[in-house]
Amino acid sequence: MVSRKTIVANWKEHPRTAAEARRLFDATMRLAAGSPHNDVIVCPPAIYLQGAGARMAEAEKEKALPSNFALGAQDVFWENEGAFTGGVGPKMFHGLGVRYAIIGHSERRRWFGETDEIVNKKIRAALGGGLTPIMCIGEPREVRKKGIAAAKRYLARQLAYGLKGASKGRADRGRVVIAYEPIWAIGSGKNDNPLDAAAIARFIKAETGVTKVLYGGSVNGADVGGYVQSEDINGALVGGASLKAEDFKKIINHS
Ligand code: PGA
Repeated sequence: MVSRKTIVANWKEHPRTAAEARRLFDATMRLAAGSPHNDVIVCPPAIYLQGAGARMAEAEKEKALPSNFALGAQDVFWENEGAFTGGVGPKMFHGLGVRYAIIGHSERRRWFGETDEIVNKKIRAALGGGLTPIMCIGEPREVRKKGIAAAKRYLARQLAYGLKGASKGRADRGRVVIAYEPIWAIGSGKNDNPLDAAAIARFIKAETGVTKVLYGGSVNGADVGGYVQSEDINGALVGGASLKAEDFKKIINHS
């Protein structure tokens, strides 16, 4: 029996309209209700979080809110309030019912210039604001070509910087979820070999003391089983396949 898994839906900058977001959110909540042996965390674009939080409050009143279902943000700023144009802090998200925040996704690092130092500030702020960080790490293709040992060295650096200062009080660090997402596997259809991904998940746990490590990068309904069958991998971070309820259903059912 495979243990309980966490499946994170990272919608990225989709869908285009609030009406579509609401339909997808409702469909995903129903899927979570039908799969009580997994935890499902949905991370819509920030602009849809208020609506999503309100939907959850409604469902709760109707006693229809699945207990294995939670809301996450795709990013968070490190200050809770102030003169920071465009910033949205952990406590604002928390007030909407958000309980998780993806931090340091490779797309944030690439398109928004986020450094390990920024990732670290966000991790600490999220923990302080009552959000569980889902910290993303992953090596580029050139590094992985040199072998698993080179990839581990690269990841160890990201972990050391990203988690700096989050180690005081092991409890805090224990709350961080790490998503291992090799950059070359994201959105490419070329995912990592499950055995290598499991070896890296073990490495991440040994290195950090974190207990939950997810795999991400082109996960789909047909291949998710290879990852989640491993006791070392605690679930999946899913991008593209989380946008179609049919595909996401297959992922949830295979795990
Ligand atoms: P993908 O994205 O499943 O579309 O490859 C995963 C991610 O970037 O979180």
